[in-house]
Amino acid sequence: MAVKRMRGVGYLLATAGIGLILLPVAMGSMTGPDWLAKVPAKARAEKNPLAGKDSAAKAGRTLYVQYCAMCHGDNAQGQATFPSLHTAQVRNLTDGDIQWLLTNGSLAKGMPAWTALSVTQRWQLVSYIRSLPPIK
Ligand code: HEC
Repeated sequence: MAVKRMRGVGYLLATAGIGLILLPVAMGSMTGPDWLAKVPAKARAEKNPLAGKDSAAKAGRTLYVQYCAMCHGDNAQGQATFPSLHTAQVRNLTDGDIQWLLTNGSLAKGMPAWTALSVTQRWQLVSYIRSLPPIK
């Protein structure tokens, strides 16, 4: 009995420890990813010139499968350490934020820059991301 209770205490302490480690991670996700702080106001305010065009989202899907799915998953659901693109965090980004990220990457964190694609292709990717249904 006593041994069991001791184990229980150990478990509680371990859980609290993990909580303390995860707290800054949770707080980071509230303020957004590090790269977001680097986006200039002008870039943030840019609107997707292809917004509302189904053909743009379709073209974006084709590009997505070719260039992005290997990290973000076949349907952008995320995998391993690569974030889902269906999250509230992504929905809260402006079109301009996403274009900026695709242009500059977040290289230190493993997100490449996509300047090998044209600006139009990057807007098509923004259209595809905007077409994703919200899932957690
Ligand atoms: C080599 C793996 C890799 C590939 C390929 C990749 N990404 Fe990423 N992507 C990442 C990582 C890692 C992050 C997180 C970066 C950070 O938090 O700073 C990320 C972040 C993002 C985000 C922001 C997500 C968020 O929650 O803030 C978007 C949007 C995104 N990627 C879109 C794309 C698109 C579109 C493509 C294809 C053109 C692509 N990514 C290709 C690794 C990748």
